Amino acid sequence: NKGCKLVGCGSAVPSLSVSNDDLAKIVDTSDEWISVRTGIRNRRVISGKENLRNLAVEAAKKALKMANVEPDDLDLILLCTSTPEDIFGDAPKVQRELGCTKSQLAHDITAACSGFVLGLFSASCYIKGGGFRNVLVIGADVMSRFVDWTDRGTCILFGDAAGAVVLQACDAEEDGLLSFDLHSDGEGARHLGAPINDNENGSVLEFPPNRPSYACIQMNGKEVFRFAVRCVPQSIESALEKAGLTASNIDWLLLHQANQRIIDAVATRLEFPPEKVISNLANYGNTSAASIPLALDEAVRSGKVKPGHTITAAGFGAGLTWGSAVIRW
Ligand code: ACO
Repeated sequence: NKGCKLVGCGSAVPSLSVSNDDLAKIVDTSDEWISVRTGIRNRRVISGKENLRNLAVEAAKKALKMANVEPDDLDLILLCTSTPEDIFGDAPKVQRELGCTKSQLAHDITAACSGFVLGLFSASCYIKGGGFRNVLVIGADVMSRFVDWTDRGTCILFGDAAGAVVLQACDAEEDGLLSFDLHSDGEGARHLGAPINDNENGSVLEFPPNRPSYACIQMNGKEVFRFAVRCVPQSIESALEKAGLTASNIDWLLLHQANQRIIDAVATRLEFPPEKVISNLANYGNTSAASIPLALDEAVRSGKVKPGHTITAAGFGAGLTWGSAVIRW
C-alpha cells in the first residue's frame, strides 16, 4: 500500500457540563478570569458509570459507522491516552467491547496531548509499511480523574472526551496523511507532569516496594505557554515543507485545544486568518489526546471540513512532546 486515507470520524463527551461559574463555587476563580486567560467556558466531566473506555467505544462506533467499516474488518486499534482505566492499557478491552472477534492487534500509545498526532503517524507506518488495511485511531482522556480540584491554576483547564478516526489503505494518489514532524524533550518534563510521588520525593525504595501513588497534574503554565508558542509554529512549518505546501495552500489549522491565546498566537505567527482556524475549546476545555479528533469530528459533521480539504494538525503537551501532521480529509 502506498497511501492511507481518512474514511470516518466520531466523538463522544460525558453528559455532565461544568461551567466556569460552577468552578467558581469550588475554587477562588471567576468566569471572567477563565474566559479571558484561556477562552474556556465549559468542560464535560465524567460522572455516574461513565469512564475512559465507554467514551472511547462510543467515539469509535460513530467513526466506524461513518467509514462503513465493521469491527471485524479492522486490523488494528490504536488507543492514544495517558489516563487509561488500567496501567497495562485499555485498547484490547475497547477491541472486545466493539465486538471484534479476530484477535486483531490493539495497543495503547502514551504521549499526553500529542498522542493523537503520534497515533496518526503510527497508523500510517502500519498501513504504508506493514500491510495493515483498516486502522482505528482513538484519542481519549479523562483528565478530571488526575487534576487537583482544589488547584485553580490547573482544574479550570481540563475536560474529558474521546475522538476517533478510521484510516484505510489506498493508492498513493489518494493518500490523506501527507507529512509529519514529531519531537520530544524530557528536559522540559519538569514543567508538566503527574509523576509517582515517591520518585519526586527522592525516597529510597526498600524490598518489597510499596505500590506507588501518582501526584495530581502539576504544571508551570507560563513555561508550557512559552514552549507551545515557540515549538508548534516551527513544527508546522517543517511538516508543511515536507508536504511541499505553505500555510496559504492549507484549508484549516487544527491545533490541540489547550488555550485560545496559544491558538491565536500560533495562527498569527503562521499567517493563518481566523476564519481558517478550528476552535471548540470554549465548550470542552483541554481534552488532551481527544482534542484534535473531537474538533475534527465536529468540523466534519457541521460541513466546515469537506472532502479534499487540507488540514494542518498539531499536538503539544506533557513529555514534553509535540508534533504536526498535514492531512487531507
Ligand atoms: N482564577 C483566578 N486567578 C487565578 C487562577 C484562576 N483560575 N489561576 C491562577 N490565578 C492567579 C494566580 O494565582 C496569579 O495570581 P498572582 O498574580 O496574585 O500570583 C495570577 O492569576 C496569574 O497567574 P498565572 O499563572 O501567571 O497566569 P497566566 O496568565 O500564565 O495564565 C494559564 C495561566 C491560563 C494556565 C496559562 O499559563 C496557560 O494557559 N498556559 C498553558 C497551559 C497549557 O496549555 N497546559 C496544558 C498543556 S496540555 C497537556 O499536555 C496536559
